[in-house]
Formats: sequence, C-alpha cells, structure tokens
Amino acid sequence: MPDTIQIFDTTLRDGEQTPGVSLTPEKKLEIAHSLDALGVDIIEAGFPITSQGEIKAIKMIANEGLTAEICGLARTLKQDIDRCLACDVDRIHTFIATSDIHMEHKLKKTSEQVLEQAVSAIEYAKEHGITVEFSAEDATRTRIDFLLEIFQAVTEAGADVLNIPDTVGVAIPQAMTWLVDQVRSVTDAKISVHCHDDLGLAVANSLAAIEAGAEQVHCCINGVGERAGNAALEEVAVALQFMYNVETQLDLTRLCETSRLVSRVMGVPLAPNKAIVGKNAFSHESGIHTHGIIASPLTYEPIAPELVGAHRKLVAGKHCGGHGVKEILKTMGIIPNQEQLKLIVKKIKALGDKGIRITDTDIRAIANTALVSTPLEEKVLHLEELLVVTGTNASPTATIRLAVNGKPYIYAENGVGPIDAAINAVQKACEAAGKFSLQEFRIEAITDGTAAVAETIVTIEDDQGRRTSARGVSEDIVTSGVEAIIEAINHLLESS
Ligand code: KIV
Ligand code: ZN
Repeated sequence: MPDTIQIFDTTLRDGEQTPGVSLTPEKKLEIAHSLDALGVDIIEAGFPITSQGEIKAIKMIANEGLTAEICGLARTLKQDIDRCLACDVDRIHTFIATSDIHMEHKLKKTSEQVLEQAVSAIEYAKEHGITVEFSAEDATRTRIDFLLEIFQAVTEAGADVLNIPDTVGVAIPQAMTWLVDQVRSVTDAKISVHCHDDLGLAVANSLAAIEAGAEQVHCCINGVGERAGNAALEEVAVALQFMYNVETQLDLTRLCETSRLVSRVMGVPLAPNKAIVGKNAFSHESGIHTHGIIASPLTYEPIAPELVGAHRKLVAGKHCGGHGVKEILKTMGIIPNQEQLKLIVKKIKALGDKGIRITDTDIRAIANTALVSTPLEEKVLHLEELLVVTGTNASPTATIRLAVNGKPYIYAENGVGPIDAAINAVQKACEAAGKFSLQEFRIEAITDGTAAVAETIVTIEDDQGRRTSARGVSEDIVTSGVEAIIEAINHLLESS
C-alpha cells in the first residue's frame, strides 16, 4: 500500500453535476477556499468547455494562489484542452469512454479511433508542459485487453496519472483490487480511482483500489455527484487515517465545517445518519448507550468527534435513561434531585412514546416545571386523569379525576371552551380549600407543528389575595393548562 495518498477533490466538477445543483463562480470560489483549507491535494474546479460561467470560475480559482493543484476537465479534444489551458489550470484531466457500450452507442467510434484520439490529446496537452491525467470512462465495463492497451498507449504518450473510473458504480472491492493490479502491469504512471456510489460501494471500492496500490483517489465532500454520487471524501479520509494509518495532507478537524458549507451552498441537505458529518453521527439516545458514553466515549464511538470537527450529543427520547438525561441537563446548568430527575425522564419518555421529537427547549421547559413542582407524595392535589369533550354544536365538558390528599375524586364541569371547562372542574375540586381566581393564563408552543409541546404559565390568586405562578408542560394544550393550575393551587395550599 502507498505511504501517502493524494486526495483529488471533484466536488466542484462531478459534485456540481449533482442533479439540480448549479453554482455561480463566486460560490465555487468559496468552496475552493474551504477545500484548500481542508488540505486536499488537487481541486478539480470544473469543465470549462461547458459554459462561460465555468471558465470564469475555474480561472478565478486557478489564480487565487491556493496551495492545492487546480485541475480542469477536458474531453480528448483540442478545443477542450485549449479551454483548460486558457483557464490557467495546473493540471488537465482528459477523458474518453472505452467500454463497448459507450463506444458503440454514445461515441459511435471504433476502439482504434478512441485509442488514437486519446493518444493525440495527451501528446497535445503534454506539449504545453502541463500535468496530464487520463480517464478511461466506464473503465469497469471495458474489455480488459482494450483497457490495458489504451492505458499503455497513453502512458507512452506522456500521461502522468491514469484514472480508473467506475462510472456507473458497478464494481465490487475485489474487482477494483484486481483491476488496479492489472493496470499496474502496463504502466509506471500514478494510478488513481474514481468510484461512483450507485450500489453504495464507492468508498469500499476506493479503499480496495488503494489497498492494491492506487496512489490517488477521487472524492467529493458529502459524497455528492452524478446520480447517487461519488466516494464521500470524509469517509475515505477517516478510513485512511484511522483504519489504514495512511497519510494524507488533510486537516480532518475541518471536515464537518467543509461538509456544512458544501451542503448549504449546493442546497443538498445531509441525511442525519450520514457517516462522519451527519447530525446523528455522534449523537446517542438509548439509555444503555448514553450510560456507556458517560462512562467512556470509547464504548460507542469509533473515533472522538473532535477529530473531525464534530461534537458529541446526548439526545432525549423514549429510549433515554436517567444517566443520559442527567448529563443533558448538566450541560444546561440544571441539576435535579433524584425525584425530579425521575419525573423529567418519565415525561420525556411519555412524549417519546407519542412520537414527539424532543428538543433542548422542550427538555428545559420540562425540567423547569419539575424543579419547582412539589414532590408527588406531598401534593394536596394530583391530576390523575383528564377527559375533555368538545365540538362545534356541544358545550365543552371536562371530567377530571383528581387525587385530593391521596383520595380520588371525579368532577365534571362545562365551559365556554375546553380550557374553561377544565379549569371550572379544577376549581370545583378545590372549593372546599377556598376560592381561586385565574389572573394570567399564557400558552406558548415550544416546538413547531401540530405535535408541538405546549408550555402554559398561569398566575392564580386566592380569596386572601395571595398570588402564585406555575407552569405546565405537555404535548396537549388543555393538559398543560390544567397541570399548571393544579401546581399553582398546590403552592398556595402548601404555604397556607
Ligand atoms: O464518472 C466518470 O467516469 C467521470 C469521468 C469524467 C472521469 O466523471
Ligand atoms: Zn464521475
């Protein structure tokens, strides 16, 4: 295996061929800067024959004084090569298809004509004293004898790098290993691979090619590119560093930042479970996992997130446990006691069971409520059940089952709306303890959408003029209001 691998980034060329993506020269320059800071060896800046904007972008990038070598793509045609030269690139990547399928149906050329065109293009580009990389497009579906013949011929014509594209992503790792071996037998030039991800094997195929001796690998940030994309740079880079101990020039700590920039500028969102750079790549939810992570991150993380510029995140949901939630609360500066923690976990699990995604804001609100709430065994009033019936032609009715000093009671009342009916039922339950009037009733949706978690803040006053506030948090607006009122009444009853 080579000691060092050159990273040929094609985010701005094959990556820009992602369906629906089109970048202005300024946006391409912004990404080029980020790739350069990341430390890629070669930036394929574009395909200049395709448009005036592409020429402008490549020229700008080539003259920016970046550390990376700047490359332009060209068919094996004089006019394409001249366009690249006019853009001041350091390297020309020229290609022609070599498989029977492409030669017959697309190029309508014989293999002799294809070979001759490839050799002439290399000779022409080399006359200009520039580094030349040659790709045999659709190499993995090319007859092996013809592939080796053309690779040998372009080597003799002066090609510096021979690239093996798995254009439609049909190779398997063993095939790539074999192919690199075969190509090595006819050339001393540097061998490179360019793997597409149609069958999800782009990274595995790239690594297999490297294992067999390929010294350069084509990749795209976030695996963008034609159809299912190209080998994801971040995945190849991390595997090379941590699994193979092979050197690259990359500063891996910039991976996440670069990934986010490319995603934003290209308008291609990242799947949350995307390896290395996805938002879940270092997130842990289940109680068993968060417990393990807190004990030692090695238990459930292959590498430390900081090494790729990511952050560990513990997530609350129905699988969470006390350890994880305690740790999440700690990062928010909230330290609950055992009883309060139990209550918070119970509430989070209940929301999770209802399919609700729990955000940090929800956790904060749930915790705030739990922290000021009276321990269950000391509560005078405790809501056991709430049923509200409402409709366009019916007067809303609320039935509540309340435990008053531990004894269950059921009360039903009407109201002008469901909240009013529920509040009337609570007031009825508290009649014996005194009269309470509602001074403030404010509902805030914490999260977006119809499944939002609601926080209700209430202020009540008793007949002696004492006031208190409390809050309730629930995915159900009426329940959150009733819980807040009961909590406030409890405050007043406890202090009387
Ligand atoms: O996938 C491919 O074959 C290409 C070539 C231009 C190298 O992108
Ligand atoms: Zn490609």
